[in-house]
Amino acid sequence: MKKPFLQLLLIMIVMLTGWSCRQKHGLESPDISIIPKPMSIETSEGVFTLNDSTVILAEPGNEEVSQIAGMAQLIIQTSTGFNPVLRNMISIPATNAIVFRLNHPSVNTLGKEGYALAVDENHIEVTADDPAGIFYGMQSILQLLPCQIYSKELVTPAISWTVPCVKITDKPRYAWRGMHLDVSRHFFPKEFIKKYIDLIAMHKMNVFHWHLTDDNGWRIEIKKYPKLTDISAWRVDREDKPWNERELQKEGEEATYGGFYTQDDIKEIVDYAKKRYVTVVPEIEMPGHTSEVFAAYPELSCRGEKLTVFPGSYWPNIDIFCAGNEQVFTFLEDVLTEVFALFPSEYIHIGGDEADKTLWKVCPKCQKRIREEGLKDEKELQSYFIKRIEAFINAKGKKMIGWDEILEGGLAPEATVMSWRGFEGGIEAAKMQHDVIMCPVSYCYFDYYQGDPETQPKAIGGNTTLKKVYSFEPTPPELNGEEAAHVLGAQGNVWTEYIVTPEHAEYMAVPRMTALAEVVWSDKASRNWDDFNERLQQQFIRFNMLNVNYCRGSFKIGMKTRFDTLKSSMHILFESEIYKPVIRYTINGKDPDLKSKIYGEPVNVIANTTVKAGIFQNDTLLGGLSEKTLVLHEGIGKKVIYTEPYSHKYPGDGDRTLFDGIRGSDYFNDGCWLDLSSCLRRVFKFNEWKSV
Ligand code: ACM
Ligand code: ZN
Repeated sequence: MKKPFLQLLLIMIVMLTGWSCRQKHGLESPDISIIPKPMSIETSEGVFTLNDSTVILAEPGNEEVSQIAGMAQLIIQTSTGFNPVLRNMISIPATNAIVFRLNHPSVNTLGKEGYALAVDENHIEVTADDPAGIFYGMQSILQLLPCQIYSKELVTPAISWTVPCVKITDKPRYAWRGMHLDVSRHFFPKEFIKKYIDLIAMHKMNVFHWHLTDDNGWRIEIKKYPKLTDISAWRVDREDKPWNERELQKEGEEATYGGFYTQDDIKEIVDYAKKRYVTVVPEIEMPGHTSEVFAAYPELSCRGEKLTVFPGSYWPNIDIFCAGNEQVFTFLEDVLTEVFALFPSEYIHIGGDEADKTLWKVCPKCQKRIREEGLKDEKELQSYFIKRIEAFINAKGKKMIGWDEILEGGLAPEATVMSWRGFEGGIEAAKMQHDVIMCPVSYCYFDYYQGDPETQPKAIGGNTTLKKVYSFEPTPPELNGEEAAHVLGAQGNVWTEYIVTPEHAEYMAVPRMTALAEVVWSDKASRNWDDFNERLQQQFIRFNMLNVNYCRGSFKIGMKTRFDTLKSSMHILFESEIYKPVIRYTINGKDPDLKSKIYGEPVNVIANTTVKAGIFQNDTLLGGLSEKTLVLHEGIGKKVIYTEPYSHKYPGDGDRTLFDGIRGSDYFNDGCWLDLSSCLRRVFKFNEWKSV
């Protein structure tokens, strides 16, 4: 896979390549910076102006639409100081009205979540078949207004509250547009959960996947098993120690770190989310990542030993539910029964990931179950476990989701698979006609670094920049049309081993969720990084208004080369996620400083060299310097024909990657590696090419 290697399988045909200039993109008018980008926008001259006599009219007889109109009213009151009257729509006045109206009968072209928004100088009108569409139309109105509309206090001095005249038709690409949050590794208060749901809704996302149980704490009140919240929700406080180096609770020590959500808290949150068209999908882990349960109910594990709740890493997580013990199934069915009563979601997530089978291999009860059920091995025992739980879930009229390990040993008949270890699990499941949610680690794990680790708070690893998230394609090319229809959508996952505070959770989630929101809502063909980045600058102002602690992006500079065949010369291009950056560079190996050239046009390079570049703002270097070694060899710029495709996981700079003259680093995430691992048979070294 490493960039400096090439397999003999590749047939290389040496051809001259053409000079390719960076394409100029037609950027959207800066007046309109809706994220995610709507399906179609038609602008015209003029504006609608909000003032003290603006009225808001809501579809009569529909409580949900009235509620949405009420939300708009409150937001307008708070930031503008105007007091728009809210009325049922009986007739529409000639001027100065915001109208939220359902289609009668339904026109059914934009689906349940689609909407049409028309703004002229006299009216703003949102129409939709369903209140969900009205809610999304309302979100778009807010984003057409000045960003200060999101202010939590009166904006002074007063500004002009105008909305450009526009016609928008819009609907989402995917049905599942999710964000996950792990509240076990660290506990997050109810108020933050609501703020997280607000962010989800603002991005027109619609699922909050709530990871409520794991080795580091059980977080949901279950009336039948009170010890889960008396004991399993609490661990000894080792927050001053690195996650992987935390000692277990000692005899006599008190478990003081933790918390849980009462059933009343959960009802409040579910209701809060419902009003924002967000479905809360609870996750109750099984059979692994359950050691915290054995602090309260040790009889449910294979060993039956009483544990203390792990204050840090528990790996390998060998203490899992005993699959041979009937009591385990009684416990889980009781728990799920209370969960069903709290969460109206049709889906329930049962985890299923990373269950270490070490103890199942030696547990007499588990081995008896394997024999009696005629199972081949412990993988099939896991499949037995999950299928049995699925039957219970289905019998209650619900659907089960599990992480992609539930494929091992045989997939449960109706299961939806959440593909996290890569795309493969999702592809396999979709080919078996199962529904799939894509969240591969390399694009969707927002606990990964999002910039140079030296400039970022400690994270679990990885390198998932904003731009990388924006490049994510949830539907893999391996699927045909019918299989692709099983990809319900995608979600971003926020695991919290290294995330302790709400502010830090926001920093990791935002704006990567902003990029993901556009991936899952907007048409694939309309995706355009430069356009998104321009609109993102407005979104940053909105985040400021909402007091969201967002990350400004990676200061790492990407470097690409292009070969000019006519002049036989190589050019280097710099890219950054930062909007309109001032990049200073050198091509002589020296560190750039304030006297170094500012990057404008592609830079001509004629000899092997080291290129260094950095982003400067107000005479200060932001982040660190980026550096690449260029090697001009005979292969540069030649066309490579791949007889087998490289993986889309690490596509480098596309076909040209192996002969672009840029030496990859030891870090396979550096954007210079091409993933040939699936077809690798023999390799030879790229740097054995003779230099010219
Ligand atoms: C996972 O990240 N273990 C689903
Ligand atoms: Zn067992």
